[in-house]
Amino acid sequence: MQLNSEKANSIDITFKDVSMTVQTKAGQKQLLKNVSGICKHSEITAILGSSGAGKSTLLNSLCNRKQNNKTTQVSETIQANSTNLTFKNFSEFGSYVMQDDVLLETMTVRECLQFAANLKRVSGGERKRASIELDSSFTAYLLITELKRQAKQKGKTVIFTIHSPSSDIWSMFDRIMLLVDGRFIYQGGSNDQIIKHFSKISFQCPKLQIPVDYFMSIMHYKDSNTQSYPKYFQSYNSQMKQIVESEMEQKSDSQIIVNKYSTPQLYQISQIAKRAFNTVKRNPILFKACMFQAVVIGLIIGLIYLQMEDNQHIFQQFMYKLIYQFSKYQMDQITPLALEI
Ligand SMILES: Nc1ncnc2c1ncn2[C@@H]1O[C@H](COP(=O)(O)OP(=O)(O)OP(=O)(O)O)[C@@H](O)[C@H]1O
Ligand SMILES: [Mg+2]
Repeated sequence: MQLNSEKANSIDITFKDVSMTVQTKAGQKQLLKNVSGICKHSEITAILGSSGAGKSTLLNSLCNRKQNNKTTQVSETIQANSTNLTFKNFSEFGSYVMQDDVLLETMTVRECLQFAANLKRVSGGERKRASIELDSSFTAYLLITELKRQAKQKGKTVIFTIHSPSSDIWSMFDRIMLLVDGRFIYQGGSNDQIIKHFSKISFQCPKLQIPVDYFMSIMHYKDSNTQSYPKYFQSYNSQMKQIVESEMEQKSDSQIIVNKYSTPQLYQISQIAKRAFNTVKRNPILFKACMFQAVVIGLIIGLIYLQMEDNQHIFQQFMYKLIYQFSKYQMDQITPLALEI
């Protein structure tokens, strides 16, 4: 998630008592248990935790992606500076790239980011998605470097989740949120501060072990760790909660400059067409398949009208069928493209 802050816009995101409960076949399940925190402007914040800890659920909540319905109960107070954040106003200054989004593996990281940036100023209701395939930790490193640069130079607020970061990536994080079973066990800096916090409760990171590996290993959902979970929660409540609350009180209260300017529709279409064209161009099999399909469909349509009689009635039928075939063919082409948008 990236919050757009043009020049003087400094947006701190604070969230208080975010909780979410879903109804499952086995009964109610609480995915987030009253979590509160702050993500500051000019910083990159990483939400970390083992699989199923609630990272994506939290990120979705921060973007107001989850609404109350029959099976889901959400309770949250989220603010961007002093403005209450809603699903509607989020898109006026923020953008969100979802975990399981459409992947266009033929695009480079830079192109994916550029595409998302180009459409970022798309009007409120529209949610344009771009997703980034990270095929190596080096690519992830480049991506985080770019996000950090955006945060530092432009004062943006960047929040993301990441699986098993490497140690060089870990040391770039300005703020870390560790989630275990829908609760925070840590919130703060990624270096000395985290090591000190856990050493106080006898979880001393071994000198020869890389901190990120150590902290990920003590969070994994396995018996030897789950016994320690109450200890993590208690230590967070007694030692960190208050610090976080006072950080939340010190949030920026500057007025948010909302950039309502949206790129023209023709520009949006040209960007999407360009992306689709590049995707086809860079995938030789897809390119050949499209060419083959065009020729075969053309031949079939042509054959239907071969040796047709030459009178007005037949001509009318011919026109109807031609228009029908043409629009159907176009829709077949457009549908998969629309799904990628
Ligand atoms: N709508 C839902 N109904 C029931 N359970 C859900 C629902 N959404 C998420 N969960 C469960 O809530 C837990 C947290 O899910 P979430 O996707 O936030 O985890 P995560 O930390 O992002 O995991 P991962 O690292 O695998 O992406 C998981 O156990 C998941 O199965
Ligand atoms: Mg997830």
